[in-house]
Amino acid sequence: MNAKTNNSESIEVLTPDIKNDPAHELALSVLEGLSKKPKNLPSRLFYDDKGSELFKKIMELEEYYPTRCEAEILDQYSGKIAGYLTGEDVNIVELGCGDGTKTIKILNGFLKNQNKITFVPLDISRAAVDFLLGNLKKEYGKIPFSVQGLVAEYFQGLTWLTDNASQRNLVIFLGSNIGNFNRPTALRFLRHLWHSLNPNDLVLIGFDLKKDLDILYDAYNDKDGVTKEFNFNVLDRINQLLGGEFKRENFQHQGLYNIQTGAMESYLISQKDHTVNIEEVGKSFHFEAWEPIHMEYSYKYLKSDIENLAGDTGFEILENFTDKNGYFIDSLWKVIK
Ligand code: AVI
Repeated sequence: MNAKTNNSESIEVLTPDIKNDPAHELALSVLEGLSKKPKNLPSRLFYDDKGSELFKKIMELEEYYPTRCEAEILDQYSGKIAGYLTGEDVNIVELGCGDGTKTIKILNGFLKNQNKITFVPLDISRAAVDFLLGNLKKEYGKIPFSVQGLVAEYFQGLTWLTDNASQRNLVIFLGSNIGNFNRPTALRFLRHLWHSLNPNDLVLIGFDLKKDLDILYDAYNDKDGVTKEFNFNVLDRINQLLGGEFKRENFQHQGLYNIQTGAMESYLISQKDHTVNIEEVGKSFHFEAWEPIHMEYSYKYLKSDIENLAGDTGFEILENFTDKNGYFIDSLWKVIK
């Protein structure tokens, strides 16, 4: 073991250099999820490098309206958003990187407004951060602001914020990423964010609104099957990393709207009675015919839900920016302490 020993006062203190084993973490999540009734796999498993690529494809789909709506909002209002921080040095921290298209719209709003900015893209996927930084270089040539990329879980990133809070912070959490949390988790996340920030710091959060059910259904069941592929990629990942024996043809993908909870829910549904061994989990899992694996929640919001969430976690809503169809809101909040 790589460890230091401190023998003063005859008490042995070990400080071993312990590393996380990602395959072991994955095996534990799979064991826990597939042992539940109903079975589930956590949606964070979507985002390996291949999954991040597939999500980029989803964002370009005709049916996946959130990306277009948010782009429209940022085209129209990024200058106005920057106006809330006129004349200040700003840390712009983006939680979860997309392809940079939306980010660039915000950054341009701040550049026009002559703020001095440090941009901090933060994502669990190194490939997503690199891709975004590559696109910033393509857009600007020489990037006209400071950049500090971070590859980490969101909460590690928030801790980084706490330690580097000398300038005013604007945290951007776009693309309805908050929709993948249930309400208790969203409350916990936002309250953690509130703790990490200083009074008067701002956050800009994308919320997908409740709407016509056909529009929702098509967005999560696209005709090209990219969303289906996005879900199946999780099974491929388990096969590759954990010696799993999932067969795609034994499962059907379906996105369904739960009218009671207001969430689109994604499932992989077993087509037949069968058993799947997963070597590294050390266990086989039985699937009855038509038994579902829950893969993801995508919660949709009412305006009043957004107001309650802000009020309950210590924020004041400064302004809600919406697209012409009223499908999506980017909500600008201020930290009240
Ligand atoms: C990342 N997240 C906001 C997307 C969503 O809409 O819930 C992920 C996604 N899942 C299927 N399509 C897109």
